[in-house]
Amino acid sequence: MGTMVPDTRNFDAILGAIANEVTPLFGEGNVASYIPALARIAPDQFGIALRTADGREYAAGSARTPFSIQSISKVFTLSLAMQQVGESLWDRIGREPSGDPYNSLVQLEREQGVPRNPFINAGAIAVADRLVTRFSDPKREVLRFVSELCDQEVSYDEEVAASEARTGFRNIALANFIKSFGKLDNPVEQVLDLYFHQCALSLSCLQLARACTYLCQDGRNSLRGEQVLSDRQARRVNALMLTCGTYDAAGEFAFRIGMPSKSGVGGGIIAVLPDRLSLCVWSPGLGSSGNSIAGMRALELFVEKTRLSVF
Ligand code: DON
Repeated sequence: MGTMVPDTRNFDAILGAIANEVTPLFGEGNVASYIPALARIAPDQFGIALRTADGREYAAGSARTPFSIQSISKVFTLSLAMQQVGESLWDRIGREPSGDPYNSLVQLEREQGVPRNPFINAGAIAVADRLVTRFSDPKREVLRFVSELCDQEVSYDEEVAASEARTGFRNIALANFIKSFGKLDNPVEQVLDLYFHQCALSLSCLQLARACTYLCQDGRNSLRGEQVLSDRQARRVNALMLTCGTYDAAGEFAFRIGMPSKSGVGGGIIAVLPDRLSLCVWSPGLGSSGNSIAGMRALELFVEKTRLSVF
């Protein structure tokens, strides 16, 4: 068990300074136009929120604006599956970084339908399959789980979910590919319906910083005083976030930032410092690996200004 380290830094001033310093980056990158409902998001937005292990919260910019959390949801569905399914979850999902883009199909052919890790799309689809088996209404269970994590009712953006279902050709291919190896138990449509909805969850930076408290407090959600995962499971989620959470940029993230992180093509990134704090940044402009450019810079500035990192 880690010991909680109270932090007396002036996070208000630090987050405010970061919000100012990233504004020149607003024109850079592209919003995720392959999902039509995300293509119209104004790129010049930025939010940052932080929650310390002792329950203090800080925010700057548009920290209360809900956005599409996209692949950040993979952390929550993985956690729910770890809680509900146990070790057999890993029978069909690896734990190695892929070094490939998040929606790549190539490894899946070579590795017989076993996705490299739970954070690439193929891996998250395999996790969704286990949740579809476990629950009669998996969408409702995921919504309940995430709402409890941030201690506030959250919802799916049905327009984003429908938009992705219409244009998610690579995900449809990935799910069919896994199925062709006999490694998806449920119908492709049912599994993808959950996957497209989890990606379409709408949360703000502040809600996401809250939702991640269990990852910096040995598996315990301090908002509700509930044990979400065991401390060992929470450490494992953090290990996977560090090695696989930002896809083919995971090495660069560890090098420049040094915090377990998970990104989404909505422009959000969550980051965790075990025993200290959880953090979320958001800005819609994405670099080539699908990670927010201003968000990544904001995390880098945070580490520079606070000297906090897992290393
Ligand atoms: O499946 C997709 O392509 C999107 N719903 C999620 C991808 C994503 O967020 C990758 N993250 N950076």
